[in-house]
Amino acid sequence: MFEHLDAPMQDPILSLTVAFREDPRPEKIDLGIGVYRNSEGITPIMEAVRTAAIELAETQVTKSYVGLAGDEQFNRAMTDLLLADTAAYSRAAAIQTPGASGALRMLADLIAYSRPGATVWISNPSYVNHRPVMEAAGLTVREYTYFNTETKAVDEDAMLAQIESLGEQDVLLLHGCCHNPTGGDISIESWQRIAELTHERGFLPFVDIAYQGFGDGLMEDAAGLRVLADSVPELVIATSCSKNFGLYRERTGAAIVVGQTPEDSLKAKGHIQRMARATYTMPPDHGAALVSMILNREELKANWMKELASMNQRINGLREQLVVGFREASDSDRFDYFGEHRGMFSVTGLSPAQIEQLKQNHAIYVVSGGRVNVAGLTEKDIPQVVKAFLAVGA
Ligand SMILES: Cc1ncc(COP(=O)(O)O)c(C=O)c1O
Repeated sequence: MFEHLDAPMQDPILSLTVAFREDPRPEKIDLGIGVYRNSEGITPIMEAVRTAAIELAETQVTKSYVGLAGDEQFNRAMTDLLLADTAAYSRAAAIQTPGASGALRMLADLIAYSRPGATVWISNPSYVNHRPVMEAAGLTVREYTYFNTETKAVDEDAMLAQIESLGEQDVLLLHGCCHNPTGGDISIESWQRIAELTHERGFLPFVDIAYQGFGDGLMEDAAGLRVLADSVPELVIATSCSKNFGLYRERTGAAIVVGQTPEDSLKAKGHIQRMARATYTMPPDHGAALVSMILNREELKANWMKELASMNQRINGLREQLVVGFREASDSDRFDYFGEHRGMFSVTGLSPAQIEQLKQNHAIYVVSGGRVNVAGLTEKDIPQVVKAFLAVGA
């Protein structure tokens, strides 16, 4: 049955993690992995999550099945977090999924079912899993111009010019905030223009928001999405609790569909449930039960928001420290982009040869493509990173 299979491609990020783990050099720094770390280098369990988990262990009376849509209280709370007070809110229907990854796949399957032959447009570059997930659902994938590698900023004019040519068979996949991998986000004016173009051209906006609260704040990070939600007739959203609740391994996320009417959204939700039934049947409960408890209890929610805000400040503080460190050491402002980007990642423009030198000569691990995880740094790493980047000619 399997003897003819070729060797599967290794995931480049996971292979880098293994190489890092096996490196005996004590000064090694991992800028590849996609998780937040605190100043001790630990990906923490948030206090509200720990409190909720203890209470859940003491009060939950059964581990029986929940249902195809998961926890409906969680679904409502996730919809509130993104869409409260927007025109889309009353038309939205949500389903709990195994992470945003599950939501991406379920929404891709829904699109393929509803609009066979649709093309999904993803940014160049984009989250490494966007293309495989969309293609696995049978959708055609094309790329729109996004990042200017010279300026390290989004080329919004080129992006919008391309979006102007999309039509009714097209789906526009956007990062809600904290673009992965580049760190470059689009302006609110561009979100407004995309809303206009949605009306003019008839394409479907699809927003993947995996880092709400890691950019400029919970509400601020949803501002672009909310511009769309106030205006466009239809919209789909994949959202994640991996980063902002630190629930990576609990696989907690949601798919939200906004149809032209609440009935359309419910029909779409029903089809997602049908597709989920044939895939994983039901999402895991634990993470969603914790999030539901946190978001529906004032004290826990306030505690979560406070800790999330402090994580956000830490990331932006590290960004500022990189800017200052590079300015002092390079006597130039060419690394100021670290301060302009948002979220965990920045694309640095490091060449494959520079990435290899960083690994061999400086024990610094960066993924191919040059993405670095600023949120994986600790304050004490910054001088070493600055020195090494300049030594390899960045
Ligand atoms: C843009 C983007 N979307 C989705 C995901 C998947 O997140 P989850 O862990 O919720 O499946 C990630 C994770 O890195 C991401 O960066």
